[in-house]
Amino acid sequence: MAVDLIIRPAVPADAGAINAIYNHYVRTSTSTFQEEPETLADRLAWLERHRGAHVALVAEEPDGGIAGWASLSPFHARSAYRFTVEDSVYLRDDCRGRGLGKLLLSRLMDAARAGGFRNVIACVCAEQEASIALHRRAGFREVARMTQVGLKFDRWLDIVYLQAGA
Ligand SMILES: CC(C)(COP(=O)(O)OP(=O)(O)OC[C@H]1O[C@@H](n2cnc3c(N)ncnc32)[C@H](O)[C@@H]1OP(=O)(O)O)[C@@H](O)C(=O)NCCC(=O)NCCS
Repeated sequence: MAVDLIIRPAVPADAGAINAIYNHYVRTSTSTFQEEPETLADRLAWLERHRGAHVALVAEEPDGGIAGWASLSPFHARSAYRFTVEDSVYLRDDCRGRGLGKLLLSRLMDAARAGGFRNVIACVCAEQEASIALHRRAGFREVARMTQVGLKFDRWLDIVYLQAGA
């Protein structure tokens, strides 16, 4: 399935599709601790900040549909953290479990190296087994676990930090 896809940098015209994928998880899952849907204006501003080394990629299907997206974002605003990035990978629900997450994360790691970053961090809800498996298979190691730092759907949630050298 992944062979038919083109992985390319995201452009403003992708904002709606990126939000449709992401907001599904905002509403239905603990994949993200965001609780209110991302607006189009916020996504367009986010895309503006993800046009350089902090990259946003999309996986485009032959018919132009977007099957998933992935990004590198600053890990922390303080300047000494500038060589560390946090990754995100979100697939359309019907595109999961077929290797696309692995492909997008691999392209992100290429982009992290090309961008001169030293470390990539994933911050994952402890109950998100697919995301933890994806990162472990890509060579990320668990470096921290924090308990009950999120509250979503009336449940206290733990997070796992996983880290890989770029
Ligand atoms: C997490 C996500 C990006 C993974 O992408 P995917 O295409 O479904 O995963 P892949 O098919 O590439 O699988 C990658 C590895 O994880 C494993 N894996 C995938 N889903 C799994 C699951 N539910 N449980 C256990 N392992 C799983 C696969 O077996 C594979 O390992 P392998 O290479 O040894 O076979 C995708 O499921 C998704 O979009 N989930 C919802 C959003 C989300 O949680 N994003 C991450 C936020 S940090």
